[in-house]
Amino acid sequence: AADGAPRQLVGALDQGTTSTRFILFDVATGSPVASHQMTHKQHYPHPGWVEHDPMEILDCAEQCIDEAVALGGVDPASVKAVGITNQRETTVVWDKETGKPLCHAIVWLDTRTRSTCEFLKQRIDVDRVRELCGLPVSTYFSGVKLRWLMDNRPAVKEALDAGTALFGTIDTWLVWNLSGRVTHATDVTNAGRTMLMDIRKMDWNDELVEAVGVPRSCLPTIRSCAEVYGKMAGTVLAGVPISGVVGDQQAALVGQSCFRVGEAKATYGTGCFLIVNTGDTPVFSSQGLLTTPAYQLGPDAPPVYALEGSIAIAGAAISWLKDNLHLIHTAAEVEALAASVPDAGDVYFVPAFSGLFAPRWRQDARGTIVGLTQYTTAAHIVRATLEAIAFQVMEVLRAVGGDLLESGVLGASAGGQDGGGAAEATDDAVNDTTSFIREVRVDGGASVNNLLMQMQADLVGAPVLRPAVVETTALGAAFAAGLAVGVFDSPESLREKWTLDRRFQPELSVAQRAHRIGKWEKAVQRSLGWIE
Ligand code: G3P
Repeated sequence: AADGAPRQLVGALDQGTTSTRFILFDVATGSPVASHQMTHKQHYPHPGWVEHDPMEILDCAEQCIDEAVALGGVDPASVKAVGITNQRETTVVWDKETGKPLCHAIVWLDTRTRSTCEFLKQRIDVDRVRELCGLPVSTYFSGVKLRWLMDNRPAVKEALDAGTALFGTIDTWLVWNLSGRVTHATDVTNAGRTMLMDIRKMDWNDELVEAVGVPRSCLPTIRSCAEVYGKMAGTVLAGVPISGVVGDQQAALVGQSCFRVGEAKATYGTGCFLIVNTGDTPVFSSQGLLTTPAYQLGPDAPPVYALEGSIAIAGAAISWLKDNLHLIHTAAEVEALAASVPDAGDVYFVPAFSGLFAPRWRQDARGTIVGLTQYTTAAHIVRATLEAIAFQVMEVLRAVGGDLLESGVLGASAGGQDGGGAAEATDDAVNDTTSFIREVRVDGGASVNNLLMQMQADLVGAPVLRPAVVETTALGAAFAAGLAVGVFDSPESLREKWTLDRRFQPELSVAQRAHRIGKWEKAVQRSLGWIE
């Protein structure tokens, strides 16, 4: 460090749907100083199924840690803590004696549990489920995936009956392994996505555990996001405390410093996840959003809640254009090709590959492209793909606006807290509840696409703000880990480090937006009901 004090670093392991990264952040500046990234294989054994090999993920995690430290020429003694952030809901079951997974992990966007959900819906009161855990019954959540494994994989059922199997989402799998098979725990943000956790008490709920029909004994202990879970047992960082665990979307909320009620972030990854902070109150959605723990920064800290709109397919639609249709060779080409035409030529693409998640929750929808003519080119389809991402986020933001309005969480003035994210509702012809959100902070791979960000601002009718450090997911996990060991002090200190890269102002007129949204709605209607 410039003043001669030894440099302090905090590491964040970001285990996502398509890749794993380890990033070391400088505590003094909040900037990344070294990182390493590896991709892992996606297994698609049947249509709608997506699996990962948990051993491959663990290997990637360990290699990324060792490589980042080596590449950055970092003294391991300067690393004060490690935080873990992860793709949520992806389900692993392993044998605690051998340490080996009993099957591949079922990935969050896998739809194989559709019949399990139908079966559960016959037996349980879905309103009661939502009241207890904040979630609809959906293929998305990890408790349902565990139930599917019990019903369909004899090895899992036998090991659960014998008491030798442990269940976990990817955070739990990594913590257990990296702590030398000592700690079997998860944090509130990941546990909140099982459909088994009481969202008020932040503990497993017997009624839900029984209704889903899984054994409570295989579930990990639920902890806060910022506390010491254990010590690293292997890698070059052996002995460093693992002191932060946060699901990746909530970690991005923290990394974006959205600590105030009404502040919202959207992360454009495989899917796109919009989260808005609702403070110490869980707001229950009537608009198809999830009520979810945002973070709990310490065992004695109060939990903070959020509303989330989860969109299953965003960046994955761009990958599909590249890998399945070969319309582009690299994701980087997308912006130039889409910008080569003035509009999408009246083509609309609804990328409902895994059904539609928020706010519609239609498992029967499938991908649809409408409006094709002989005039249509690859550029129009690519542009329609970017628009599809922006339309989906717009729908979620409208739902957020509706819920916030109904709940009164922003107060009568809808002005939010000092400098908070909520703006005055305007008298908008589109009945635009998005106007409750004053601005949206963006991050994730596709947030570098300026055309997409401009489309986003135009369609939501609110400014879109891109920060200078877009590694917000990893930063959020590093912050939680650093807070637990005392190298970071308060959320305010993180907030001071947030700097703007670019602000995108909405430019469409209300009438233009209304027209575009109307066409999108027609396209969505055509995607519904494809799976009977
Ligand atoms: O809920 C799934 C989400 O956590 C996955 O995020 O960034 O790995 O696509 P990402």
